[in-house]
Amino acid sequence: MVIEFVDVSYQYDMPGDEWALSGIDLKIEQGEKVVVAGPAGSGKTTMLQLLDALILPTKGEIFYDGISVHTLARRKELPSVRRRMGVLFQFPEEQFFQERAYDELVFALRNFFSPDEPELERRAHDVTRGFGLDVGRLKACSPFSLSSGEKRKLALASALMIRPQVLMLDEPTAGLDAAGRRELMRIIASLEETTVIIVTHNQEDFLALAHRIVGIARGEKVLDVQKEDLLQRIDLLESHAIEAPLVMRVQHWLRQEGVAIGGAPCEMEELVRTLAGMVQLRGKG
Ligand SMILES: Nc1ncnc2c1ncn2[C@@H]1O[C@H](COP(=O)(O)OP(=O)(O)O)[C@@H](O)[C@H]1O
Ligand SMILES: [Mg+2]
Repeated sequence: MVIEFVDVSYQYDMPGDEWALSGIDLKIEQGEKVVVAGPAGSGKTTMLQLLDALILPTKGEIFYDGISVHTLARRKELPSVRRRMGVLFQFPEEQFFQERAYDELVFALRNFFSPDEPELERRAHDVTRGFGLDVGRLKACSPFSLSSGEKRKLALASALMIRPQVLMLDEPTAGLDAAGRRELMRIIASLEETTVIIVTHNQEDFLALAHRIVGIARGEKVLDVQKEDLLQRIDLLESHAIEAPLVMRVQHWLRQEGVAIGGAPCEMEELVRTLAGMVQLRGKG
């Protein structure tokens, strides 16, 4: 699914409120991995809610495969778009409302696509395997009794149950430990065909798998670059109080000292290996 924002603005219905988002143009193609970065309060969650058609733009248009969100809303066809998208909200427990964790897991699939129960259970086993969640246990417990990492995994697994064309994640690594973050990254990296939109105030974790970085500050889009071009834009990012990933900042500092690193590594280990290689070459020279 191609999603396109044309001059989108959004204002919450509160007296005296500023625009939460203004004048956003953005086109996301099927299969892109986009990181949306910005400081707290910059409008990231609002953008995700617009992307998911949970709220409609106050001004401007959003198109799903060329069809306006307003038209879809008028024809009561928003569910046909929303069932192609999976969302992991910033506070997953706020999206839980079933008594059993298993019912939470299968809710969207059961509700939108009504497969038979054995089919549902097969899919549940397939999806939860990669998360280390046990279907038998999910059938026996409440979603609220899970640990915070497990709640997040359950919410993500439930979004993946419907094989979404578009997966949106709002601050997915908040509250995850290093192993949880790695696991999440591995799962996202395996979703080759899926569009993944990751909202974060910390790009660090996702740089390796991102194609494109969109920067938001005070409700406006201030940056939209392919990952390869991020290094040239570190000053711009920082001028908008968007923290650049450390691996990029280090390369930026090195550059300022006249040290050029080839290949713009996206992971610290890779940068350190490259630097070590350069030092050894010097030692031999
Ligand atoms: N439900 C709401 N009602 C009124 N204002 C809101 C609501 N949600 C967010 N806002 C305001 O909209 C702006 C953007 O918020 P948000 O999209 O949550 O930013 P972020 O996710 O980047 O932290 C902020 O000024 C915030 O206070
Ligand atoms: Mg937010």
